[in-house]
Amino acid sequence: MQITLSVENLTKKFGDFTAVRDVSFQVEDGKFFSILGPSGCGKTTLLRNIAGFYEPSAGSIKIRGEEMTGVEPNKRPVNLVFQHLALFPMMNVHENIAFGLRRRGLAGKEVDQKVNNMLERVGLPGFGKKKIDQISGGQKQRIAIARCLVLDPSVLLLDEPLGALDAKLREHMKVELKKLQVEVGTTFVYITHDQSEAMVMSDHVAVMNSGQFEQLDTPQNLYHSPKSSFVAQFVGNNNKLAVKVHKKEGGEFYARYIDGRDYLLEGAYDLDQGDEYDMFLRPEAVVINPPAEDKKFNVMNCTVKAVLFDGGNSRLLLIPETTSEELIVALPQTKQYDYLKHGDVIKIGWNPATAVCFRKVDVKIYDDV
Ligand SMILES: Nc1ncnc2c1ncn2[C@@H]1O[C@H](COP(=O)(O)OP(=O)(O)OP(=O)(O)O)[C@@H](O)[C@H]1O
Ligand SMILES: [Mg+2]
Repeated sequence: MQITLSVENLTKKFGDFTAVRDVSFQVEDGKFFSILGPSGCGKTTLLRNIAGFYEPSAGSIKIRGEEMTGVEPNKRPVNLVFQHLALFPMMNVHENIAFGLRRRGLAGKEVDQKVNNMLERVGLPGFGKKKIDQISGGQKQRIAIARCLVLDPSVLLLDEPLGALDAKLREHMKVELKKLQVEVGTTFVYITHDQSEAMVMSDHVAVMNSGQFEQLDTPQNLYHSPKSSFVAQFVGNNNKLAVKVHKKEGGEFYARYIDGRDYLLEGAYDLDQGDEYDMFLRPEAVVINPPAEDKKFNVMNCTVKAVLFDGGNSRLLLIPETTSEELIVALPQTKQYDYLKHGDVIKIGWNPATAVCFRKVDVKIYDDV
């Protein structure tokens, strides 16, 4: 597989402040690569270095093997789609898409052909004559992308392009955008603070925190095997239980929770007897009324605080026995548990392999949505 974009040891400083610290990654041709992280972690700064609007303080950026340092932004084979799409309101859709082509010196039939072809590809044939204020938010989105794709970039950079849309349309557009990328086959580098967007669309996701990559992986691995407390909390939903780690005679590690009970840990974590850890338990990994025969299963008694019914996304809010903590547990999509109500005492359980455990750290997760 050909490498389209290669970033090596990239650092960007603003005065004394390091916004991007020693970041390295490669994106293969035709892949959808996302950079996911909270507000202020350095995503836009990283993208602007790739686009050429900033010069790196250290490190290198190569596109299709060619070093980009010193290459003007408009000479780089990349295009950037901004959060606020920056379409020209005085021009119609056709003129908006044609703008970049004309600046490159193309004219006449060739421009028309390319624009019409692009409109077909983004699913808006015949939209050329419409004014920008006559089309919907989702359509504007596709026009903004069409305007970049028509220039045939090696890499399309997208800076939170769905940020300006309402929640429902965002939900729809993330599927549309994925379909579009698969169809056109252009390499996408997409930045977002929305983990669901990143997971749904991407082949690979880099989780960024305070200017650094914490983990670069497939969405599946980020979800099932987070490598840090930050990733465990930022990707998907997770319950966090503060525990102390103990080692039993057999060599097995247990997590002692504030309910006074020990829960078996499994997996190659960096565990030390007596130290404080956070154990993460996904709501969907917890089983209600677990089978009694599996001795390795961890079981816990809880009181139902509330039933949060929401169709396929229904959950229980539980209080573990003798604590005042809260746990969220996913409800299976059956009528089986419709009888549960506030105050009921139930048994829950989980396979130790589904929990992950990291040394206790203070993690600040900002999210502005
Ligand atoms: N031109 C600049 N001069 C000085 N500091 C800057 C500059 N641009 C960004 N920063 C700082 O660098 C950090 C990273 O900013 P950046 O815009 O890359 O974050 P981000 O991850 O894109 O955040 P958001 O999700 O809010 O867009 C922030 O602390 C920001 O204040
Ligand atoms: Mg940004």
